[in-house]
Amino acid sequence: KQTLIVDCDTGIDDALALLYLLGDPGVEIGAVTTVFGNTDAETAALNTLRVLELAGRADIPVSVGARSNWCGDAHLAPHVHGSDGLGDTDLPAPATAPSAEPAAELIVRLARQNPGAVRLLAIGPLTNLATALLLEPDLPELVEHVTIMGGAVRHPGNATPAAEANIHNDPEAARIVLRAGWPVTLVPLDATMGELITEQHQRRLAERGSPTTRFTSSVLEQYFDFYERDIFGERRAACHDPLAAAIAVGDVAPVLAPVVSTDVDTGDGPGRGATVADVRGQYRGFPEQQEANVRVVLETDRTFPDLLVDRLCGAPEP
Ligand code: BDR
Ligand code: CA
Repeated sequence: KQTLIVDCDTGIDDALALLYLLGDPGVEIGAVTTVFGNTDAETAALNTLRVLELAGRADIPVSVGARSNWCGDAHLAPHVHGSDGLGDTDLPAPATAPSAEPAAELIVRLARQNPGAVRLLAIGPLTNLATALLLEPDLPELVEHVTIMGGAVRHPGNATPAAEANIHNDPEAARIVLRAGWPVTLVPLDATMGELITEQHQRRLAERGSPTTRFTSSVLEQYFDFYERDIFGERRAACHDPLAAAIAVGDVAPVLAPVVSTDVDTGDGPGRGATVADVRGQYRGFPEQQEANVRVVLETDRTFPDLLVDRLCGAPEP
């Protein structure tokens, strides 16, 4: 049976991704590892435990990973995700604690124990995955697939004009991960900024009235505040991490996802953290490229928020 390891910086949309996955009994989450990003790595682990406990899945191990990138210039995002990193709702502090095993070591151990049967879903900066690759150079042979929420190819960045936040927070790690030679699917802003959750969806969640949907409806308040103020001028928000989760488990088939040569700008100019994918073939149906290393999801069909809300409303309560 396949095991999914979710590496995240929980985070509002990370929490939605976890709840989406937990609502599918066919998906086995072997562990959740956390990284700095939306909040610090410890808080991300506590937030993850809060979400797992809400879903009745405190049995899933949670492990803390990288506290910073290797340059020591992490950018956290309380203006997006609230001062507690999770929308400042009334979700209680966790009753359980993170595991003592560091994230990268846990990723390597699970991959060695289940060769060829582990899938990675990375929805934060890629520091833990890069560290795991340094610990175990054979990791690309042990892991079946890597799905990453990150990057901006034809879409502007969100952290800077050129760079998306997850990649911008550790461009060197992202380069290591994209160049590792394992099968990678990248889900950049090009796709996620088209999948927008709205106030109608929020109302459906509130009306359903289960603990999970009450939490998701209330956490969306903080997310909509940010998107209304800084992005759209309207109360709707991008489903970044849940979309990547749905693609990772095969629930969403991308509309346009060429396999192309992709790298990260690790310079210190204005392009730092930009994902540079060779999409010059876009007018010719993306002919095959010799050096192609990443499947880049450029478009999905923009109906995913309905699926997400259906899943959250239908999930059995613990
Ligand atoms: C990505 O950055 C994080 O803030 C979100 O959780 C998502 O993974 C979007 O750029
Ligand atoms: Ca995230």
